[in-house]
Amino acid sequence: MRVLSSLGGLLAALCIGSSACAADRVGDPLAGKAWSDENVCKECHNPDGNSTVAEYPRLGGQQAAYLYKQLRDFRDGRRRNVIMQALTQELGDAELANVSAHFAAQPVMKGTVASAQSASSLGRKLFEQGDGARGIPACSACHGADGKGRVAGGLAYPAIGGQHRFYLRGQLQDWRSDIRRNSPDGVMNQIAKSLGDKDIEALADYLSGL
Ligand code: HEC
Ligand code: HEC
Repeated sequence: MRVLSSLGGLLAALCIGSSACAADRVGDPLAGKAWSDENVCKECHNPDGNSTVAEYPRLGGQQAAYLYKQLRDFRDGRRRNVIMQALTQELGDAELANVSAHFAAQPVMKGTVASAQSASSLGRKLFEQGDGARGIPACSACHGADGKGRVAGGLAYPAIGGQHRFYLRGQLQDWRSDIRRNSPDGVMNQIAKSLGDKDIEALADYLSGL
């Protein structure tokens, strides 16, 4: 818990005046829906954001402030992905905020409880309690007890419960190897470096079922 509270304090302190913070811009979900209907987002992420293809993350019910931050991070080069960087290049903040509000208002991403229950107990333990001896904080402390994310202290913690297993595994590997580096003060890089391959498999398994 000591690790966790020091990380939490660090994030809160960093948030003041930093671009790492959840953006406070609130979008218009109806304008976002109209815009999204005319654009390609739905081809990969589905009209309600609950993509059925493992490579394309689910956006349905995701925290609006998190979606908005990611879209600006892609556009401004803080998060790298060939497709998403190309698609956001020409877009303004208002369009990004609106489309974020639209997907956030859709049914929340959801796995099947049966698959969470059949996942190994390691994934559940790391999510609920972490592993103090190895410096791994409980994921639930930041991502919410139900894994559906939250906004606290000006920061957006994304929903990870019910996300595709393939995508979760990929992101955890990318945080660990510093391919993805857009979390506030590198908090997810620090955490992922304490995770072994077996931990990542177990977490992706468990979380995708929630
Ligand atoms: C050709 C397929 C494709 C299209 C079209 C597409 N995306 Fe994506 N999107 C992806 C992929 C692949 C990723 C994962 C990138 C990664 O691995 O970092 C992604 C990631 C995202 C994320 C980050 C999700 C997260 O959990 O961090 C957001 C937000 C997003 N897309 C929104 C959009 C919006 C809005 C549009 C329409 C303007 C759109 N996407 C169009 C393929 C697509
Ligand atoms: C101290 C708070 C904190 C803790 C503890 C934490 N996270 Fe995170 N996590 C974050 C933040 C903040 C982000 C959003 C980063 C960004 O803005 O790009 C994030 C993002 C993620 C993402 C990317 C989601 C997406 O849609 O792309 C995954 C996956 C993730 N965390 C998994 C975990 C797992 C697994 C654990 C437990 C081992 C964990 N996190 C513990 C703060 C935390």
